[in-house]
Amino acid sequence: MILYFSGTGNSKYAADVIAELTGDEIVSLGDVIKNGERAVFKSQKPFVVVCPIYAWRFPRKIEELLKKSEFSGSKRIYFVATMGQNSGNCEKYCKKLAEDKGMEFMGFSGIVMPDNFVVGFKMPSEEEARETIERALPEMRRLGERIRDCKRIEKTDKTLLPGLMSGAVNRGFNLFNVGKKKFVVSDKCVSCGICESCCAVNNIKLVDGKPVFGNNCICCCGCINRCPQAAIDIKGKTEKHGRYVCPEYSSADR
Ligand SMILES: Cc1cc2nc3c(=O)[nH]c(=O)nc-3n(C[C@H](O)[C@H](O)[C@H](O)COP(=O)(O)O)c2cc1C
Repeated sequence: MILYFSGTGNSKYAADVIAELTGDEIVSLGDVIKNGERAVFKSQKPFVVVCPIYAWRFPRKIEELLKKSEFSGSKRIYFVATMGQNSGNCEKYCKKLAEDKGMEFMGFSGIVMPDNFVVGFKMPSEEEARETIERALPEMRRLGERIRDCKRIEKTDKTLLPGLMSGAVNRGFNLFNVGKKKFVVSDKCVSCGICESCCAVNNIKLVDGKPVFGNNCICCCGCINRCPQAAIDIKGKTEKHGRYVCPEYSSADR
C-alpha cells in the first residue's frame, strides 16, 4: 500500500509511478488528515510512504499522523522522499518511526524533483520542470521495481551537515514557518475554491467567496502554487517567484 502526501504533485507522481510497477493501492495522507487525522492502514503487501522533504525531514504533521495510525498486515515499510536537492538526516527519523511501530525498515531513498518552495525560490519554468522530472523517472522506476521485488532501497543523496540541517535548522523551520502566516489575496481571486479543497490541514475557508487563512499552515505551498490566478501570496516573499505544479497534473488534482 502506498501512502503519499503531496503539496504540488511531485510526490503524487512518484507514488503513481511506483504503484504502476508494484500494483499497489494508493492512499492520500492529505485526505486522511482532512478527514480526521488517524487511520488504520491494512495491507498484506509492504507499506510505502512517499512524501516531500520539508527542511530536511518529512513534514511533522505526516510524522505525527504515521506515529498515531495503525498498520495492520505487512510488517515492512519503505520511505521514498521527493526533494529539491537533498534529504539531510531524514532517513534516521524514518528508521526510528519504523522501529517505534514495530515494523521492519526496508530503506529510505530520495528523488530529486522540481523544488516547490515558492517562499524561498523562483519556481522552474514548465520546460525546466519537465527536464527534472524526466531525469528522475529512471530512479523512480528502479525504486518501484525493488519495492515490487521486496528488496531493500538505499539513500543515494548527500547533505552537508545533515545532523544540523535535520536537527536545529528543522526545528527553526517548524518554529518560524509553520502555523500563522502573512497570506494576502489579490483581487485576481475568482472564488474557485481550489485553495480550500487542496489544503490538507483545513487551514483555508472561503468566506464571502474569498480565502481566509487559519493558524495551522504546514507550509506545503500548495495553495500559493495551485491558485490558477496566482492570487495568493505571502506578503513580500512570493510575488516574484512564479508558480509550480507538477506538469503531469492540473492545479485541482490532489
Ligand atoms: C516548506 C518546504 C521545505 C522544503 N525543504 C526542502 C529541503 O530541506 N530539501 C530539499 O531538497 N527540498 C526541500 N523542499 C522541496 C520539496 O521537498 C520538493 O519540491 C518536493 O518534491 C515537493 O513535493 P510535492 O510536490 O509532492 O509537495 C521544500 C519544500 C517546501 C514547500
